Amino acid sequence: MKQQVLTFILNGEEVAVLVTPTETLLDVLRERLQITGPKRGCDDGECGACTVLLDGEPVRSCLTLALTVEGRTVTTVEGLMVKGELDRLQKAFYERGAFQCGFCTPGMLMVAKSLLAKNPNPSRDEIRSYMAGNLCRCGSYEEIIEAIQAVAAGEY
Ligand code: FES
Ligand code: FES
Repeated sequence: MKQQVLTFILNGEEVAVLVTPTETLLDVLRERLQITGPKRGCDDGECGACTVLLDGEPVRSCLTLALTVEGRTVTTVEGLMVKGELDRLQKAFYERGAFQCGFCTPGMLMVAKSLLAKNPNPSRDEIRSYMAGNLCRCGSYEEIIEAIQAVAAGEY
């Protein structure tokens, strides 16, 4: 299949990569750019493990055709650290044990990042509702909610 050049901003830097029209953003991130934070769980839009931010909004990268991000801004979990410092959410997840295997964590972090950008002080119900599309097979939901609450409370 014919390839074409896709150019977009990835974690603050412009990248240009050859892609085919049927490749998803998840394919391009993981297979062509070796950005492996976004995970391939269901590959069908169900689990949220592949979530990235597209112009600040969470999207399922397994359902996003790569060519639709031309000229746009994509942030993955790799882009959360600033100058070698973990993001507040990363610190809270780590210190509060908000994961077991960690497979869901990159997607959870990106959705939580989006939530706090829109609503810096969400209630427990608002957190549950906003995070509802992201599944954790290890059942770390309580710790995930507590970590987000701790960040919202200014503990990180
Ligand atoms: S891998 Fe994309 S939603 Fe599960
Ligand atoms: S920590 Fe294992 S799937 Fe969430």
